[in-house]
Amino acid sequence: MTIDSKSGGEAPETGPRRQLYGRSKGKALRAAQVGRMATMLPALAIDVAALKDEPAALFSGQPEALMLEIGFGGGEHLAAMAKLHPEIGYFGVEPFLNGVAKLLAAIEQDGLTNIRALRGDAREVLAALPDASLDRVYLLYPDPWPKRRQRKRRIVDDDFLAEVARVLKQGCELRFATDIDDYAGWTLARIAQQDTLVWCAETADDWRQPWPEWHRTRYEEKALREGRVPGYFRFRRHALG
Ligand SMILES: C[S@@+](CC[C@H](N)C(=O)[O-])C[C@H]1O[C@@H](n2cnc3c(N)ncnc32)[C@H](O)[C@@H]1O
Repeated sequence: MTIDSKSGGEAPETGPRRQLYGRSKGKALRAAQVGRMATMLPALAIDVAALKDEPAALFSGQPEALMLEIGFGGGEHLAAMAKLHPEIGYFGVEPFLNGVAKLLAAIEQDGLTNIRALRGDAREVLAALPDASLDRVYLLYPDPWPKRRQRKRRIVDDDFLAEVARVLKQGCELRFATDIDDYAGWTLARIAQQDTLVWCAETADDWRQPWPEWHRTRYEEKALREGRVPGYFRFRRHALG
């Protein structure tokens, strides 16, 4: 990957009503998937109104930390993290029905109790979360919207970064992966323009390697098959002022 920071200068359309994602349904769900949606989802759905007061209360027990994965796709990474860290409460948000159905299958298979999920727009969850309430946010391979006229649909913009910074605890990280050089440059340019999230790169090369405990996502597998090279970026929440 080479980072194309030239792409960073263009101002995206802003505002909460930007439509970010395309279709939110794919193939018809199989009977077992329909059954899981009916029986499992109500119990583990994110109650957005309840997030405002005490997000940890959405989990049984008292999680040691709270993390959010935005656009979890088929949920491979989210389920793997939740399995590895039963002490952490994970929120996942994904508008695509078939992705949510896949996550539920993984939750059932591994008997996971520490995931709360929403089929919807992550910006709704971000807006509801209290300040400094999360220990990490993952944004893994957001939709690239590669054509110039589509870039306004990218989830990363100044408002999005400000919201992520607001909900992160001080010293905690936004972890971002992309296989699109132009999206890396786009994001780094916006990171450079604000002062609450700081790129944690220590060596010129460290964004070429995933962070410890990285779990490959379905989209990353496709990107690698197609010859694209991922970049992995960690942005740390600084104190203001
Ligand atoms: C390219 S896919 C990557 C999926 C997964 N992270 C992976 O790496 O396999 C991007 C995902 O982001 C989801 N997405 C798009 N806009 C979103 C939004 N506003 N909130 C939450 N998820 C969103 C899409 O539905 C899609 O599943």
